[in-house]
Amino acid sequence: MNGVVLISGGGSNLQSIIDNADEIDLSIQCVISNKPSAYGLKRAAQANIQNCIIDHQLFDSRQDFDVALMSAIDEYQPEIVILAGFMRILSDKFINKYQGKVLNIHPSLLPKYPGLNTHQKAIDANDSVHGASVHFVTKMLDGGPVIAQKQVEINTGDSAKTLAERVLRQEHVLFPKVIHWYTRGRLKLLNDTTATLDGQVI
Ligand code: GRF
Repeated sequence: MNGVVLISGGGSNLQSIIDNADEIDLSIQCVISNKPSAYGLKRAAQANIQNCIIDHQLFDSRQDFDVALMSAIDEYQPEIVILAGFMRILSDKFINKYQGKVLNIHPSLLPKYPGLNTHQKAIDANDSVHGASVHFVTKMLDGGPVIAQKQVEINTGDSAKTLAERVLRQEHVLFPKVIHWYTRGRLKLLNDTTATLDGQVI
């Protein structure tokens, strides 16, 4: 299946997707970053994957940025749009256009801790477990139906950094697995709150 991956940073999730692309039946047509300095762009180049920058700072509005992003994506006619550490909120127009095709990975056990600083929030709340979630993207920020999660225990003395490192390692296992479900046609978004795996509501 043809896909486009959107990133903003280091791209370690992108790397795990690249490394598993054959096994998960994914052909990455292009990697797009909204940040010129994103290390993930180098990872794409090293893997001979087309990559481009659409710098959000060069646009006057979120709408204008999203129009440019949509037109870059549409050059590749992807069947899946993968948000792998893409740190921009997408407009309703974008979401409507690709609804049901966009997967995101988020570093918390959603619905806990949408948004930023999730690791610190889990530590501050004295949680004993934390983790990562893959979900369909809908208009609600980090609020689309959760498809699968991986749990990570929080250890005494964990900092946001040490916890984030352990969560990331689990993300690298979780995301390719869920993308494979999608490329095999096993995953569907029914509506803003419901997704199915093999026809069963998740
Ligand atoms: C990951 O923790 C992901 O869940 C979050 O941003 C981080 C991106 O890391 N959305 P990387 O760029 O994939 O290394």
